[in-house]
Amino acid sequence: MIEAMIEVIALTKTYGETAAVQNVSFQIAPGETFGLIGTSGCGKTTTLKMLNRLVEPTAGYILIQGEDIRRPPPERLRQGIGYVVQNSGLFPHYTVAENIAVVPRLLKWQETRIQARIRELMQLIKLDPDQFAQRHPQELSGGQQQRVGLARALAADPPIILLDEPFGALDQITRREIQQEFKHLESLLNKTMVLVTHDVFEAVELCDRLCLMDGGIVQQLGSPQELIFEPQNEFVRRFFQANRFQLELKVTPLQDVIPWLPVQEAEDVSIRNYPGTSSLLEVLENLEVLENPENKTQAPGQSPLIGITDAQGNCLITAWEALLPAFHHFKQDKFKAKVSSQVSNHG
Ligand SMILES: Nc1ncnc2c1ncn2[C@@H]1O[C@H](COP(=O)(O)OP(=O)(O)O)[C@@H](O)[C@H]1O
Ligand SMILES: [Mg+2]
Repeated sequence: MIEAMIEVIALTKTYGETAAVQNVSFQIAPGETFGLIGTSGCGKTTTLKMLNRLVEPTAGYILIQGEDIRRPPPERLRQGIGYVVQNSGLFPHYTVAENIAVVPRLLKWQETRIQARIRELMQLIKLDPDQFAQRHPQELSGGQQQRVGLARALAADPPIILLDEPFGALDQITRREIQQEFKHLESLLNKTMVLVTHDVFEAVELCDRLCLMDGGIVQQLGSPQELIFEPQNEFVRRFFQANRFQLELKVTPLQDVIPWLPVQEAEDVSIRNYPGTSSLLEVLENLEVLENPENKTQAPGQSPLIGITDAQGNCLITAWEALLPAFHHFKQDKFKAKVSSQVSNHG
């Protein structure tokens, strides 16, 4: 078994009468993006801050790569952990370049190496160094500030990144844009990340696993699919209720509904083709593209066609109209499987 990158064991933090975090345990694998979610005040930030010792636990402990985090001096611990907060947390009197250089300077890198790293990171976050390096944070948009905050956290290439509502202060459109960039950023692929958010769509979009908390207590730990399709208690079920249908479509990849789709194998490559890993929501939201009159594959009065590349690399053709009925059957089947396993557990 691969050793956990981060292991949290029976972590508790109380402030006077308030139990901010109660007996929380979880493990995060190397390279995983782990989401801490829940409503305001449920203990997300407190849990996150215990990971880099900005808050000391009342009880319990934390291991990073097997080592108790109380062992190294806090400064050394934090050099291996990038930290991104809402409203970027940039130093207002520092330029963009100086902000990004904070940790490399602490680590006493040579100046030429620091300058090269600043340029490299600014290119990564799509801010032209010649135009932006000497600006101060207040001369940037909110989205640009958040990008610089991310660049600063990545500067010394730490293996772990903690993010506390990093996109929380951005407008909806900028937010979705930055989430997509974030998701596809190659420098983040191998990082172990802990993302605090109260935005369920953000959590489901970006995280491999989620920890849903309420009142400082873990309500459920698992993949987005598990939390949404198999809520462990009434709180978890209600937490996703307002957006349930959209979320279900979002966590269901096309390939999961193939057994219920009328498909034919085809060589026609002129139609829009989706990898089987695309979410149903993404495909359904793309309908406008298919409704384009230029789309020649659609005979008058017929449902548009889409292609799906399955896990074996075959291209299957199906009607867009068949997706929702197939999803319905997929869910029924999931539900039946659950009921029969409960019956056999009790039998
Ligand atoms: N420094 C503190 N002193 C007293 N109470 C605190 C402190 N920090 C957090 N709390 C309390 O702990 C609980 C959890 O807070 P927090 O972890 O910030 O929640 P979240 O990030 O999920 O919104 C809240 O009730 C909050 O008021
Ligand atoms: Mg918080």
